[in-house]
Amino acid sequence: MNNNSPNTSSQNSTASTPTKRILTGITTTGIPHLGNYVGAIRPAIASIQNSDSEAFFFLADYHGIIKCHDPAAIHESTKAIAATWLACGLDPERVTFYRQSDVPEIPELAWILNCSCAKGLMNRAHAYKASVDINNEKTDVDPDQGITMGLFGYPVLMAADILMFNATHVPVGRDQIQHIEMARDIAGTFNHKYKPLFTLPSAVVDDEMPLLTGLDGRKMSKSYSNTIPLFGELNPQVSAEKQMHKAIMKIVTNSQLPEEPKDPDDSAIFEIYKAFATPTEIADMRAQFAAGIGWGDAKQALFDKINAEVAPFRARYEELMANPKELEEILQMGAEKARRHSRKQLDKTRRAIGIRPLAKLK
Ligand code: TRP
Repeated sequence: MNNNSPNTSSQNSTASTPTKRILTGITTTGIPHLGNYVGAIRPAIASIQNSDSEAFFFLADYHGIIKCHDPAAIHESTKAIAATWLACGLDPERVTFYRQSDVPEIPELAWILNCSCAKGLMNRAHAYKASVDINNEKTDVDPDQGITMGLFGYPVLMAADILMFNATHVPVGRDQIQHIEMARDIAGTFNHKYKPLFTLPSAVVDDEMPLLTGLDGRKMSKSYSNTIPLFGELNPQVSAEKQMHKAIMKIVTNSQLPEEPKDPDDSAIFEIYKAFATPTEIADMRAQFAAGIGWGDAKQALFDKINAEVAPFRARYEELMANPKELEEILQMGAEKARRHSRKQLDKTRRAIGIRPLAKLK
């Protein structure tokens, strides 16, 4: 990982500021599925466990309300995502783990950054442009129909998330790289215009991370309704373990019979298996495909493999979901830690732009 961004944090920054500060946000829409676990949660938790860097992970609920206008869904998603990350081993003592909306300095900073960010920069954002393109394909539809200021200004809020904590490394999916570049741009403009208060962040993208295949053979994604739940749906009638088993049994296969040799590289079962098994186990499963393992048996082996890894986390997840007070306490502790930074950074920023007390009162 290369950090090519000069650290431009101000002279007042504490001497203990480490060279590497990782920060990432999770938008609070949806309930985590197996693809999220393999692609984001597991690697993020593993990467900070063996590193001496500082880490900030947060629930981006103010980003959540851009896409989702269902209050109950936002609330439930926030709870489920917090419980998932903690159950999967995120240590809230080691990582500053907080909810974006508990740090009011972030939207304040976003407003300040809005005031020096060029509108033209936002016009070029992929997410916004994609929405305009969809409107333009229709006749008699305004190009900006259905597009809110929240969607338009999304990258500025994201820049505030990052710049507030002077993050150096921001792990994201490919679709977010442009947003990190915009954060650098926004930081550079502010630093140049007022005072060099903000570190230019670098995106960290894991090229090796496989995208998990879903039940229907396409990429596993909530928008295709082809996901395998990580811990089960909310308020389930059947146990989470049974739900996972049921979903795995629904993975689409071809109509080859048991004993026919099968091509592992053409199978979603094998593809998902690879994300959970050791190299020896993978080689063994490959041999079993060649030897004609039946689809039902292959699915059962996949379930056993995933369940062995996930079952210990599931118990903790269910405990946290049943005890939101514990979750809330952890998030409040995280917010307190985050605000120790954000209060100072916002104060410096306000002073830099000329907003400060007129006189000292006793
Ligand atoms: N936009 C990111 C996503 O959809 C989530 C996010 C919000 C984020 N703020 C962030 C990611 C700051 C990294 C840093 O995935």
